[in-house]
Amino acid sequence: GLPVVVTGISSGIGAATAALLISQGYQLIGVDRTEPSDFPGAFIHADLSSPQGIADVVSRVQELAPAGLRGLANIAGVPGTAPLATVLYVNVFAVRELARQLAPLLVEGASVVNLASSVATGWRIMAAECRGFALAQDQQDAIQQAADSPQIADNSYLFSKQCVRLLTEQLAAEFVAQRIRVNSVSPGPVQTPILEDFKKDHGQDKVNSAAQLLGRFAVPEDIAEVIGYLLSEQPGWVNGSDIRVDGGLVAHRSSTVA
Ligand code: NAI
Repeated sequence: GLPVVVTGISSGIGAATAALLISQGYQLIGVDRTEPSDFPGAFIHADLSSPQGIADVVSRVQELAPAGLRGLANIAGVPGTAPLATVLYVNVFAVRELARQLAPLLVEGASVVNLASSVATGWRIMAAECRGFALAQDQQDAIQQAADSPQIADNSYLFSKQCVRLLTEQLAAEFVAQRIRVNSVSPGPVQTPILEDFKKDHGQDKVNSAAQLLGRFAVPEDIAEVIGYLLSEQPGWVNGSDIRVDGGLVAHRSSTVA
């Protein structure tokens, strides 16, 4: 069958998603800045932290999948400890540009899944800033403006994932006529290498308290399962949505249960 493009396949949630999809018989085109240890699909070695890197991925995918694609999973992401421009290119502009530039290859019924985060649950609080940034035509100028805004620069990861939520709705709207679905998944803390950076960025106690409440952190497979479901044809009427996959963390934090 036609392949699915999956970014971030060399670690964590992306690696677990790739393994799941391969076990289900999908053909994959994997993208990462790090070589995967063992990947039975076409691999594109690329860095999504610049417009050139993103453009390279698009042209490689065009070469590798001339007959089209059945899906795109934007899983690559970086924590807020990375430089602001890196966070905003990888987490936001790569998601937008891969979806828009690969849309001509996506066939009717195809599915796009983006990785947001449970931290972006209250995303409408920065809706105007997110809209301005996420839809900006001049990416470099938008990043400069973000750097000048303490509210954004000090919360780069949160901001980037709020932008993913907004972009997911935006892209779903853009692709409705093409019958391509676009949804996001919002995990709580998952046991992957990025978690150590989250502890530095958001505070060790806050991150650890989630595992104390829930009994464990999520494992990558918990999230891959939902990404795989959204990529499949089964949830054919789920579009422009976000699915929280956090074991009940956000529900608990916003509830009155002590
Ligand atoms: P990870 O660090 O294990 O994997 C991220 C992958 O993305 C790595 O293989 C890395 O090489 C790749 N990547 C990073 N920057 C790249 C670039 N510039 N170009 C190409 N590839 C690049 O992290 P994890 O946990 O698997 O994260 C996957 C996604 O899930 C990210 O978008 C993350 O923000 C999101 N997420 C993770 C949570 C967690 O607690 N682990 C919670 C909520 C969301």
